[in-house]
Amino acid sequence: MLQNWTPEGLSESDLADGDLYHRSLYAEGNLEQPLSWHRDSIAKLVQAAADRISDGDIVVDYGTGTGGSAIELLKVLDSQGIQITLVLVDPLPSWFSKAWELLHQRSDVEFRLSFDYDSKLGRKRFFTVTELLDGRQANLILSSSTVHLIPSKTIPSLIEELYAGLVPGGWFIWDSGDIDTPTRPVSSCLLHDPYRGVQVKAIASAEHQAALSSLDDELQAQRILQKTGRIFPTPPKMNIITDAIDAVGFQSEYTTLEVSMADVDALRFILVPRLAAVAAGIEDESVRTVLIERCLAETLEELRASGQADENGYRSHWIYGAHQKLF
Ligand SMILES: C[S@@+](CC[C@H](N)C(=O)[O-])C[C@H]1O[C@@H](n2cnc3c(N)ncnc32)[C@H](O)[C@@H]1O
Repeated sequence: MLQNWTPEGLSESDLADGDLYHRSLYAEGNLEQPLSWHRDSIAKLVQAAADRISDGDIVVDYGTGTGGSAIELLKVLDSQGIQITLVLVDPLPSWFSKAWELLHQRSDVEFRLSFDYDSKLGRKRFFTVTELLDGRQANLILSSSTVHLIPSKTIPSLIEELYAGLVPGGWFIWDSGDIDTPTRPVSSCLLHDPYRGVQVKAIASAEHQAALSSLDDELQAQRILQKTGRIFPTPPKMNIITDAIDAVGFQSEYTTLEVSMADVDALRFILVPRLAAVAAGIEDESVRTVLIERCLAETLEELRASGQADENGYRSHWIYGAHQKLF
């Protein structure tokens, strides 16, 4: 049986990373004040989930992060007096520790780190959904703003795992603002497009080039560049996801939503330490911050010129999937 995860051995900078991501979702970290982009994108997902959840259900939040989706789901269920067992799953201790801080006092919430070190394999191994659930099956699996982080080659096996982890009649409900669809209007972009823009501009900048060329070690420079490119990976194509979902036999429904993100919220988001690593070659935090601010301002101007942003911020196009396991 998997242990309930508790944060251990985290550094001050890990804790700050989780706290700052949380503050990119909630004004001043106040749970009563979700920032508009988080509030607007998550409300539709949480409502779709809450409509399908009954008292006593087992619910999984796959990719909990700092707790942005779990917190909003529990708000709705608590207000309706619905009691569930909520299993939170994430591989990133720095962010997951914030969710733990906010939710561990609840007896209805379990924490599962997604992976363990496998001494036989000599590397990390991700647990399957069935392992994460200790052999139980969930009534509903929620996944907010996470599917776009899964590599394309892993999507089919993950969908099979999610299907196996559900009871007959159970639901997989997810959203993402970073997966392109043929129906995306040209007036919107993907959630992370501005930050991919920042990454390209930052690594081409004179400051970043100078920082990398001052390193003696060519290999280290290459590692830094690889790291900058991994922060906002190219998302899987929508047809990879829909094909995998159809292949296991889910019955599906998709909807979309346009969500606006204010410039100030976009800046707060990209300055979360883990995400600011798009300019990882610059070690000095204040120099990195100035560079990111400049690159983001230029990128947002380009989005305004192309009609994907206006004075209120940029428009991201979100997809929502609701899938039922029929048998
Ligand atoms: C953008 S956050 C979303 C967090 C939360 N669901 C929310 O809506 O605020 C995405 C989370 O997915 C997690 N993640 C990335 N790859 C994952 C995987 N293979 N399995 C589970 N979670 C993953 C990351 O660690 C991160 O915490």
